[in-house]
Amino acid sequence: MLNALTIDDLKRQARRRVPKMFFDYADSGAWTESTYQANESDFSKIKLRQRVLVDMTNRSLASTMIGQPVTMPVAIAPTGLTGMQHADGEILAAEAAEAFGVPFTLSTMSICSIEDVALHTRKPFWFQLYVMKDRDFINNLIDRAKAAKCSALVLTLDLQILGQRHKDIRNGLSAPPKFTLKHILQMATRPQWCMGMANTQRRSFGNIVGHAKNVSDLSSLSSWTAEQFDPKLSWKDVAWIKERWGGKLILKGILDEDDARAAADSGADAIIVSNHGGRQLDGAPSSISMLPRIVAAVGDRIEVHMDGGIRSGQDVLKAVALGAKGTYIGRPFLYGLGAGGREGVTRALDIIYKEMDVTMALCGKRLLSDVDQSILLDNPYAAKAL
Ligand SMILES: Cc1cc2nc3c(=O)[nH]c(=O)nc-3n(C[C@H](O)[C@H](O)[C@H](O)COP(=O)(O)O)c2cc1C
Repeated sequence: MLNALTIDDLKRQARRRVPKMFFDYADSGAWTESTYQANESDFSKIKLRQRVLVDMTNRSLASTMIGQPVTMPVAIAPTGLTGMQHADGEILAAEAAEAFGVPFTLSTMSICSIEDVALHTRKPFWFQLYVMKDRDFINNLIDRAKAAKCSALVLTLDLQILGQRHKDIRNGLSAPPKFTLKHILQMATRPQWCMGMANTQRRSFGNIVGHAKNVSDLSSLSSWTAEQFDPKLSWKDVAWIKERWGGKLILKGILDEDDARAAADSGADAIIVSNHGGRQLDGAPSSISMLPRIVAAVGDRIEVHMDGGIRSGQDVLKAVALGAKGTYIGRPFLYGLGAGGREGVTRALDIIYKEMDVTMALCGKRLLSDVDQSILLDNPYAAKAL
């Protein structure tokens, strides 16, 4: 892992260390994966302005997200089954994020529980909520996040029904994994992963098992989602969740200007421009291509964050230039985790930090607060009509 210079290097290493069904779970999008791919490729259409003879000393990437200081404006995105990329994955990633000074977001569908992560961290982390039909369970989950002193609730709005990812179906994805010949072979060729799993008790959905009632089949993510997630979720629900939570609220999965306006009206603290990493509505535009218009619509009323396709510090800087106050990385940290546990996540953050720092300097800026559209040659997504 020490020779990983890029997020792609970490991805290659993760592929060698993580059983296929879990590596594919991370490296997949819905249906044709066109939105998954566009999230990445649309960043490369934005060109940077090279500037010279500017003082480059005393640079800083420090900023804030929802008022919280961050070493750089990059949070760890909530991802389900993270403890299947590497044993105790959520705890290791939370520790790495805390040491680096960036927010860690724990998914509802994590392997390690809220309480587990709280026990292993000193600073508050963020909790991501999926809303299920069982409102007692949801109220309880919100209360557990409060008791764990989480400093923000990230409410995900774009997954009330699950987008189809062909790889997961073909692989027979489940947590814990099934013991069919195919799955045993996948695991047997990943001995370090197996050793880690043998040494931990955390192998199922930590926030759910033992807490939710009437859960008949938790091993299959798709059937469980279909059975439990509430497809009637509405803006009224956002209101009661906001009230029960009572703290900072971030709405995740906004990709449309009208929805962004409704989100700003809801009184939330921030929105995340996101298409769930291309895992839900295949054919939706990339997050970065929608960012400028959403910033134009609501940027003066609510903090705008984005995720999807960030694979380098340059991508983060481009998002900031287009108005994002914060960004999130999903797969980059998962690849780091799969490649080398806590150290791998630190490596992913470090790679992004250094790329961002050098890029900012070569664009003639010393402080993140000075970064705006002037570092871009033009904005290909400015006034593009759909
Ligand atoms: C393996 C995986 C699992 C995910 N699970 C969740 C989840 O449980 N909750 C959620 O809100 N988003 C989830 N997401 C979406 C991420 O939070 C984020 O929006 C996305 O990964 C960003 O794109 P990127 O992976 O290109 O950085 C998941 C993404 C991946 C790759």
